[in-house]
Amino acid sequence: MCGIVGHLGPNNPMDTVLEGLSRLEYRGYDSAGIAYVDDKSELHFYKKKGKLANLVSLLEKEKHTVVGCIGHTRWATHGEVNDANSHPHTHGKISIVHNGIIENAPSLKNELASEGFEFQSDTDSEVFLALVTSNLKNGMDFLPAVSEAFKRTDGNSAFVVLNAETSEILAIKRGAPLVAGLHEANSDASVSSDPYALVGSSETIYFPGDEVLVLLSKRHNDIISFYELDGTESKNYKSKKQEMSLEATDKGDFEHFMLKEIYEQPGLTRDLIQFYLAGDGADLLNKVSAWKPEKFHISACGTAAYAGMVIRDFIEQRNRIPCAVELASEFRYRNPLLREGEVGLFISQSGETADTLAAQGLCVENKMKTLSIVNVEGSTLYRDCDENLLIRAGIEIGVASTKAFTQQALTGCLLSYAIAGDLESEEKKKTIADKYSLLAERIDDILARVDELKKIAEEIYNYNGFFFTGRGQYFPVALEGALKLKEIAYVHAEGYASGELKHGPIALIDDQMVNIAIVGPALFDKTISNIQEIKARRGVIVGLGPKGESDLDDICDFKFDLNFDGLEELSPLYVNVANQLLAYYMAKFKGTDIDKPRNLAKSVTVE
Ligand code: F6R
Repeated sequence: MCGIVGHLGPNNPMDTVLEGLSRLEYRGYDSAGIAYVDDKSELHFYKKKGKLANLVSLLEKEKHTVVGCIGHTRWATHGEVNDANSHPHTHGKISIVHNGIIENAPSLKNELASEGFEFQSDTDSEVFLALVTSNLKNGMDFLPAVSEAFKRTDGNSAFVVLNAETSEILAIKRGAPLVAGLHEANSDASVSSDPYALVGSSETIYFPGDEVLVLLSKRHNDIISFYELDGTESKNYKSKKQEMSLEATDKGDFEHFMLKEIYEQPGLTRDLIQFYLAGDGADLLNKVSAWKPEKFHISACGTAAYAGMVIRDFIEQRNRIPCAVELASEFRYRNPLLREGEVGLFISQSGETADTLAAQGLCVENKMKTLSIVNVEGSTLYRDCDENLLIRAGIEIGVASTKAFTQQALTGCLLSYAIAGDLESEEKKKTIADKYSLLAERIDDILARVDELKKIAEEIYNYNGFFFTGRGQYFPVALEGALKLKEIAYVHAEGYASGELKHGPIALIDDQMVNIAIVGPALFDKTISNIQEIKARRGVIVGLGPKGESDLDDICDFKFDLNFDGLEELSPLYVNVANQLLAYYMAKFKGTDIDKPRNLAKSVTVE
């Protein structure tokens, strides 16, 4: 989704903003722009549809001394993708960038147009610019002009405003990501929608609360200061040292971040178990278990929701506590039955997904305790939940989520062990650690046999459509396998419960359809029968299943052997790695933009 960066101070504000925007490219965007103030208090702005490189080429001849700069990558919501709708939006000495949706934009736009403001774009964002400039025209100072404008907007948004008159930057948000960063010397300060954009330029990261104004100004002793909407000083922010390093954000020898992230999974599995069994994590798991939930309401979006289904199985099987899993976008508007004593469990890589945040808010309104399984420490979800289980996946840059899924599910599994009281016994802890290390070994084994999967991908990538099927614990990974393939290879794929195909979708089966059939040891014969039904209709069968089972081998056009021995409940995560690699190589044969697939955003901050 839209990315925002702003920088004030002598350390190359424009380069810092462009570098920050390039880091935010992974979030998905369709145009980019910057505005800056020079040492003569003149405002300059440039914006261009398409890749950031298009914008950078416009800036090659820029010679001014830049004092402060703001920048934006746009993921279109209101108005088509063109230069005019790109951000920043500028009027007089004011320029703004925006991430989110102004829900009452149509009525505000009518009002401001009737007062004479000439809109230059079809965006909702320009309404905020019109409000700020109208307030300034009416004699307000910069801070109240932004604060009053903000109060008039409905919906979740983050805004950054550059005032060339005063060479100051103001930022504010409600329910949208925004952080600020300070250079150790207090000479330079930044704002951004993602701490990742500030790696290398800021040593301290601030996380302002909602409706807190963040002012970057040379006129104060501190280059960053925080204010409430009424202009009084605010203490509603947290801060921490920047811990992310630039190395973590490098592809290394891998062609794509997605591939690198797939390969990181065995190591991350081992680290996770170390942290939660031997490190600080055990206390946290035990603390959450002491809540003794009557029921879990698991809510998430996309891949994270599929991880939620895997976690539901862990908790229901081991703890016999009921778990409902729902897409956050449905849950939030469905008026679900929620009771005190039940726990809301929210799963998210970014911790910024708008629907997931809203689902969490609904549980809080219903006096429930809320828990996250989240990757980004300090994200909005992290800050809003009562407790957080970090999945410790490190930064995930590939838009298609891979390692986060595995770590989410594995963290959820550890929660189920904690609820069962298994972390109290050293012997049981050792058994758990052994299971995780066996999983890591088996994933290593799949990675070592990647050429087999690559060969299958080469054979099937041009077919018309793909059904990923699985039963029971493999159904969520069938859904996830299909999602991965759709996202990065741009082919139609569906995840289905093996037994359900004959209730409709089987009508689609012919010799141009592929069934990627996950066959685990449980319900083996029934799953084989389901595959027979596809085979009888000339569907192409790719079997992901146990070795040496002639019933399966005989009906597969292509087969990838999996060793399920001793893996029991963790095997869906193991199978999923094979699906990830299949999707990756099919996308590679198709020649798509794997790390930044079209139309997608890494962090979905609008509903
Ligand atoms: C798919 C994918 C998305 C996300 C979803 C939720 O590969 O990445 O489906 O899983 O947008 O995002 P988070 O986990 O950040 O809440």
